[in-house]
Amino acid sequence: MNTTGKVDVLLGLQWGDEGKGKVVDVLTPNYDVVARFQGGPNAGHTLEFEGEKYVLRSIPSGIFQGGKVNIIGNGVVLAPDLFMDEAVDLEKSGHQLKDRLHISKKAHLIMPTHRILDRAYEAAKGKNKVGTTGKGIGPTYTDKVSRNGLRVGDVLDNFDEKYAAHKERHMKMLKALGWDDFEGFEEVEKKWMQGIEYMRQFHFVDSEHEINNILRSGKNILCEGAQGTMLDVDFGSYPFVTSSNTICAGACIGLGIGPNRIGDVYGIMKAYCTRVGAGPFPTELFDEVGHQIREVGHEYGTTTGRPRRVGWFDSVVMRHAKRVSGLTNLSLNSIDVLSGLETVKICVAYERSNGEQITHYPASLKELADCKPIYEELPGWEEDITGCRSLDELPENARNYVRRIGELVGIRISTFSVGPGREQTNI
Ligand code: GDP
Ligand code: IMO
Ligand code: MG
Repeated sequence: MNTTGKVDVLLGLQWGDEGKGKVVDVLTPNYDVVARFQGGPNAGHTLEFEGEKYVLRSIPSGIFQGGKVNIIGNGVVLAPDLFMDEAVDLEKSGHQLKDRLHISKKAHLIMPTHRILDRAYEAAKGKNKVGTTGKGIGPTYTDKVSRNGLRVGDVLDNFDEKYAAHKERHMKMLKALGWDDFEGFEEVEKKWMQGIEYMRQFHFVDSEHEINNILRSGKNILCEGAQGTMLDVDFGSYPFVTSSNTICAGACIGLGIGPNRIGDVYGIMKAYCTRVGAGPFPTELFDEVGHQIREVGHEYGTTTGRPRRVGWFDSVVMRHAKRVSGLTNLSLNSIDVLSGLETVKICVAYERSNGEQITHYPASLKELADCKPIYEELPGWEEDITGCRSLDELPENARNYVRRIGELVGIRISTFSVGPGREQTNI
């Protein structure tokens, strides 16, 4: 008898902020363990239940239900000071973490100088800047790949010396970039070191061993993605992307799981699109409708507070996301935000300037710039749908909209949400 547990993966299909965290929270009772596999405090995953609102940045969203073990995998980059703030807040609100939040020794540390480097690189890019979250994500992953990184496991051995050497190297790089703004650095560094001490109270693990042992004992794991497919460093709108692989394969790399262990792959999307930061966004809206969606959906970044750019649902992007991650399930969030619009549009394909229609996402920014979206327009709905608990309860026009999205992406919509609350997420 095969008693091996299964690994399911949940990830964003658009440009992040699709509502991944809240779906993870709702699915958590079906799993024994929840694990983050990439990204870091650039993420902001919002959960609302029992009248409280929580925003998680580095801690997995499986932390609230049923005392489950949560793992921060080797693919994650961790800022000890921000981690401490997040964990202390959670503990204050009654959620004990220390015994059940495990951190991979192989996860890389975001140093204070990585955050300065993030700013310095952005400044050097001038008008081509990515619009990063400023959390030091790019420089930390750069150090990882160039074999210069500092990892959680390094905390256990001769840490001060290693830290000093890394800092010195960063300072030389900053000098070469002509950067001289170090205001508040000493304070940040002091808190960062306190964060290191705080982190020592957690279990540092070899996550690949732990995860494979968990599976062998017949338990199930849910892997929680951060960001979204269009921010993937390989398959997103490069260079306007983050610095990790956000797609399904990222879970194998970021946790040490064989691809043959992956079961269901949940793709999370909103009923429209949003993007924070720079980069192409074919269906972006600049009119009153875009403004309405932004205000009704409270589309302001959870990490930086920046207004999110808003646009119509783009099925070209979605099919690209389906292809690169092998999705098996779709989750459609925030359908309620579109209530009250006279009509709703779905992008079904792109048209090049020579009149040619394409249904796949172009590889280069230049090709993309030559494309404009082709829309299908559907009648909207007036009704307040925030109390709907099944797709059948939606008004006919909303049902048709959801059905059409499912057809265009080519996968069953298995969960949907009509509000930010846990009870408004229907599985
Ligand atoms: P994540 O990064 O993918 O976890 O998503 P975020 O938490 O950054 O962004 C999603 C935002 O939409 C949050 O403010 C959620 O509270 C909110 N949200 C999620 N689902 C729904 C929904 O179905 N309806 C509405 N109105 N808001 C939602
Ligand atoms: P969650 O997990 C939305 C965007 C930034 C920027 C680009 C690179 O909440 O969906 P980075 O700081 O990663 O180097 O920034 O990626 N970005 C996100 N946008 N949601 C996120 O995370 C994001 N994480 C990064 O705005 O455009
Ligand atoms: Mg978010």
